[in-house]
Amino acid sequence: MLVVGSGGREHALAEALATSHLEPEVFAAPGNPGIARVAQTVDIPASDLVALRHFARDNGIDLTIVGPEDPLIGGIAECFWEDGLKVFGPSRAAARIEGSKVFAKEVMRHAGVPTAEFEVFDRQNSALAYLRSRQEYPVVVKADGAAAGKGVTVARTRDEAEEAVREAFSGRFGAAGERVLIEECLVGREASIFVMTDGREILPFLPAQDYKPIYDGNQGPNTGGMGAYSPIMWMEPATYAAVLEEIIRPTLHQLALIGATYTGLLYAGVMVTEDGPKALEFNCRFGDPETQVILPRLGSDLLELMIATNEENILGREVVWSADKAVCVVLASEGYPETSSTGDRISGLDEIPTNVFIYHAATEERDGVFYTAGGRVLNVVGTGPSIIEARARAYAAVERIHFPGMQYRTDIALEAMELEDL
Ligand code: AMP
Ligand code: GLY
Repeated sequence: MLVVGSGGREHALAEALATSHLEPEVFAAPGNPGIARVAQTVDIPASDLVALRHFARDNGIDLTIVGPEDPLIGGIAECFWEDGLKVFGPSRAAARIEGSKVFAKEVMRHAGVPTAEFEVFDRQNSALAYLRSRQEYPVVVKADGAAAGKGVTVARTRDEAEEAVREAFSGRFGAAGERVLIEECLVGREASIFVMTDGREILPFLPAQDYKPIYDGNQGPNTGGMGAYSPIMWMEPATYAAVLEEIIRPTLHQLALIGATYTGLLYAGVMVTEDGPKALEFNCRFGDPETQVILPRLGSDLLELMIATNEENILGREVVWSADKAVCVVLASEGYPETSSTGDRISGLDEIPTNVFIYHAATEERDGVFYTAGGRVLNVVGTGPSIIEARARAYAAVERIHFPGMQYRTDIALEAMELEDL
């Protein structure tokens, strides 16, 4: 098996694969020092699709599991298929569901999927004119293409919205900003829903919630994700069923209809509103850090599920879960998310307490010592029979870890714990 990527998500994936009862030999490109403990790391960047393909071909890789979106949007599946190599993840055509927000909205419109009302603009002037004529604020401004999570602004006022439109058209997001979506701001609770799919059948995973803003109380700028927990008790089974039937299935059906059959892991970001769940976005891969709270609780064999998905053999299968809950706290470096400090020495990783998983997201190892190597450094996951216990274990483990400038949120899963208390 070959895992492509180098973050905490890929660490969790590599670990779940390495413990499969099929006993695979696991490689990771480029991996990281945490991944190197469970897999053989290979020094090829996730962006070098041709080098990855040659590695897979020359080393008899049976299945390549792609962590990040960029290689999928860039067509890694098609690239590998040319050599008869198997990939767990969608084709370039299907990955557009994440690669273009306008494409995703068009698919949703044709499929009748509940989502925010929207308008598309390919010129700055027409977008600004629209904002001037619009009465209701807040409004959401999105650059069309993948902008590493930075292309979305929830604008409270017209001024903020105009600023976001100008920023998108300024070229700051590259080609991603050449078209802009302006959409209705939805109010409710957000959830991340994953399904594995062969394009027709689905294998639903339990939902998770992530925390995007850097500071407690959801203050400050958005990040790649500062924490997560799973499952989410506030989501009613009927709501979850509605996400599958009204959002995910019609979207998959529509993609198949237009010749972009989706296979792999589909991630729907949804807002549970007063009118039921509505789709915020789709991602063409596992979420980060949601994967880090989902995989430790997976009772089924991840590799078996992936193989069954690729062989279109998932009908009648069920995903089995442990009764445990999981809470992930992300430790970020100084300056994140605007910048990130690197080379800070990390201490406290020698002993990992029981029921705790520590996934490396951006670390470097020199002479047996770990250093920070990016914005999100480590993911500390606690598990236990309740959110209270899982959360206590995660934060107790966080207390043992130190590096200069370390930042983390202290309120991950706090409201989930309060709900559990009732
Ligand atoms: P996206 O990358 O599309 O998921 O957007 C990033 C974040 O912006 C989401 O996780 C939401 O918190 C927020 N967001 C996106 N679209 C909307 C919307 N229509 N209404 C409210 N919040 C939104
Ligand atoms: N957790 C958000 C994402 O993976 O896009």
